[in-house]
Amino acid sequence: MRSKKIVVIYHSQSLGNTKAAAEQVAAGIRGAGEFEAVCLNTNDERVAPAVLADCAGAAFGTPDYFSYPAGGLKVFMDDWLIAQRGGNEDITGMPIALFLTHGGGGRAKEPFEGLLQRVGPQVGETVDIKGAPGEAEAEACRQLGAALVREAEKFLAGQG
Ligand SMILES: Cc1cc2nc3c(=O)[nH]c(=O)nc-3n(C[C@H](O)[C@H](O)[C@H](O)COP(=O)(O)O)c2cc1C
Repeated sequence: MRSKKIVVIYHSQSLGNTKAAAEQVAAGIRGAGEFEAVCLNTNDERVAPAVLADCAGAAFGTPDYFSYPAGGLKVFMDDWLIAQRGGNEDITGMPIALFLTHGGGGRAKEPFEGLLQRVGPQVGETVDIKGAPGEAEAEACRQLGAALVREAEKFLAGQG
């Protein structure tokens, strides 16, 4: 049974840049309606894909590590595909929002989108941030969270 909950799953390890972006996405979710936002850092724990089962939407964030999504988020996606192939259909189909931080290259964006778009339809564009989010980037993250809430409301309504 899905609830008015959106999970923000991200990896942040070296500077806290992606964590700062995740907190702004969560602020945008909380500010846009009656949705609870739960933030989980894959650097702190191995996040089980089952967390998606009661969510109406999900946001995913990664730093660019060697032009690829961070290992913790890749492990999440490995676990997600194995669970999905094992018959867990509750972990797919909800709207998703994506954000990325990088040091100036940012070539992880394409593989990041390719991996995460398997989970569900993407809301808007990936928010792409060089370094730590400044006020403009923080606002873009909050807007992304708000846009995700609008799609999550439609998704919940369609679930009957
Ligand atoms: C191991 C490692 C590899 C990195 N590789 C890249 C890279 O290929 N391209 C890039 O633009 N930035 C790269 N960076 C910079 C990070 O993407 C950037 O500092 C990011 O904001 C760090 O996020 P975090 O503080 O949440 O861990 C790398 C950083 C680390 C620690």
